[in-house]
Amino acid sequence: MDKEKKEESSAIHPAVAPLSYLLGTWKGEGEGGYPTINSFRYGEELHFSHPASGKPVIAYSHKTWKLDSGQPMHSESGYWRPKPDGSLEVVIAQSTGLAEVLNGTYSAEDNVIKLHSQVVANASKVREISRVYEMVNGDLHYVVQLATNLTTLQPHLKAVLKKL
Ligand code: HEM
Repeated sequence: MDKEKKEESSAIHPAVAPLSYLLGTWKGEGEGGYPTINSFRYGEELHFSHPASGKPVIAYSHKTWKLDSGQPMHSESGYWRPKPDGSLEVVIAQSTGLAEVLNGTYSAEDNVIKLHSQVVANASKVREISRVYEMVNGDLHYVVQLATNLTTLQPHLKAVLKKL
């Protein structure tokens, strides 16, 4: 591949540029709960990368662990596809076997991303998932809410992560 072509393919796609602040590795702690379970704390590392495919896609993965023992907890990975009109579609596969397709919006002005599930597949209890990611003073904050067969949309996870 000549130099010009190589530079072109490793550049950030214009559709991804408004979300380029996400790219990299984030690490921090979170708190989980739900009306039907005991609350818990967890460690988390989250990674966003932009494969040099020239496609408008961000690859996403996260892993979590118990704070006392380091034992792995939930993990998930997927793809985020931002569009130039400020909308976003996301697919995520979870270590529990659950699969999510989410749609939403991002705001380049205040760096808030709001996602809501269009599809939740292979889930015994979960009916809906919403995710909000927000940059606050350089930290990445998120809140995940779930609705189940017994409960309306309620917070399950919230975390604050710093860029490594
Ligand atoms: C419990 C879903 C992410 C840790 C649950 C329950 C559901 C659920 C449906 C059971 C609630 C009930 O029994 O009424 C999800 C979904 C997730 C997610 C859809 C992602 C979108 C996570 C993550 C962690 C986690 C990232 C760990 C950091 C737990 C724990 C419980 C739980 C510890 C309690 C288990 C128990 O007491 O039996 N989750 N979860 N979950 N989740 Fe999640």
